[in-house]
Amino acid sequence: MYLGLDLGTSGLRAVLMQADGCVMAVAERGYGVAHPKAGWSEQAPADWLSACAGAVADLRAQAGGNWAALRGVGLSGQMHGAVLLDKTGAVLRPCILWNDTRAASEAAVLDVDPDFRTISGNIVFPGFTAPKLMWVARHEPDVFARIAKVLLPKDYLRYWLTGELAMDMSDAAGTSWLDVGARAWSPVLITKSGMRPDQMPDLLEGCRRAGVLTPVRLREWGLDGPVTVAAGGGDNAAAACGTGCVTERRGFVSLGTSGVLLAARSRYAPAPETAVHTFCHALPDRWYQMGVILSATDALNWLARTCGQRPEALSALTGETLTAPSNTLFLPYLSGERTPHNDAAIRGAFIGLDIGTDQAELTRALMQGVAFALRDSLEALKSTGAKLERLLAIGGGAQSDYWLKVLATVLNLPLDIPEAGELGGALGAARLGLIADTGAAVDTVITPPDIARTIAPDPAFTAAYEAAYQRYRALYPALKPFAGVPS
Ligand code: XUL
Repeated sequence: MYLGLDLGTSGLRAVLMQADGCVMAVAERGYGVAHPKAGWSEQAPADWLSACAGAVADLRAQAGGNWAALRGVGLSGQMHGAVLLDKTGAVLRPCILWNDTRAASEAAVLDVDPDFRTISGNIVFPGFTAPKLMWVARHEPDVFARIAKVLLPKDYLRYWLTGELAMDMSDAAGTSWLDVGARAWSPVLITKSGMRPDQMPDLLEGCRRAGVLTPVRLREWGLDGPVTVAAGGGDNAAAACGTGCVTERRGFVSLGTSGVLLAARSRYAPAPETAVHTFCHALPDRWYQMGVILSATDALNWLARTCGQRPEALSALTGETLTAPSNTLFLPYLSGERTPHNDAAIRGAFIGLDIGTDQAELTRALMQGVAFALRDSLEALKSTGAKLERLLAIGGGAQSDYWLKVLATVLNLPLDIPEAGELGGALGAARLGLIADTGAAVDTVITPPDIARTIAPDPAFTAAYEAAYQRYRALYPALKPFAGVPS
């Protein structure tokens, strides 16, 4: 048995996988995100540990006697968040998350230094880890002075599981401290952002063993051990492992809290000027490129909160039949935007509201706006040479057929819906746990999923959605002068 743990933004998902790759049980525990100021986004690492303990207890109850056969654990997690530890391993402050934009000015300072784009292969986005540490140095010098190690969220979970301080290449690629082509820490980038190389954990490939469960965890979990813990991957790399997106022409579009359009790449071909992310994959000698939009289902959740509804209730209002594009346009920049704008100050908008606009229309406009933002990412990815003729559709938002029909038509690509697509990251983590434990060949474990059905672009509407996309594209430059995060 192999356990995949995916430490997401809204909760932790745990998947128990048999050695033949079949999923045996799934459990999930949620937690909140604090937004103490506009543009801030934080979580208490202790909440992740409680969620993990709870999800594991749920899995044990489901697995019965099979639980004793657990041999390996793999980890997946939200990227970029800064977990700061003192020399005793205690957490110094709440984790500053990937969608926190407080470090925008620090990111801009690092990004104008050409070494950052050249060595890390990426823009220094405000959500990345290095600028967050510069913000802490400036605003919380007492905390900064006590930092002994910086971990990413899933690596803190690993620390609790194994006592090891380690990070995998795919997650490290989002820190702005990694030489992404060489797959090694860059002392130049670390030093230039005011940090020391000894504050970085050990680096490992995602499918390698990072440690074993501690005696305390074994006892709590009712296991004899040893149980291997793999290095694992950032959530998008792990989801790519869970869905077999590890070779050229394979990719996915994910409607999660953030939206991601990802293409697997067999070589390192950075293109920071496109605002596409170029990261190490969770497997050696492989990379991936992706466009990231900061609010996908997060935008739907926001609208639901604002309307006093549940997100599923709003989704249900759209019906399942594709309709002509909405006259109301939505820009999903609720937390700023990464691809293609790299703009932490821009904010979202509804344009073209009518006295008759109701919740159903707002929801359709919102889903359409997210699809347009992902089309921007597709155009950016194409310009890097990534070839995508179809995509897997994964993430919580992929449960809405209406949203997928809009997305397929806006991207003009067929979307394949995997069986169990929502398990991507956790399943990928479990697969990495299996490889780390058994040394199995990557290609026998990291396979494409069974496809439940395919949603094709609707030719009756492609021209109309193309025209609406062009209207959408004109809005960002027009709104830019009005943008600004309230202080
Ligand atoms: C990727 C990114 C998000 C987070 C959230 O660069 O910031 O996809 O990993 O899950």
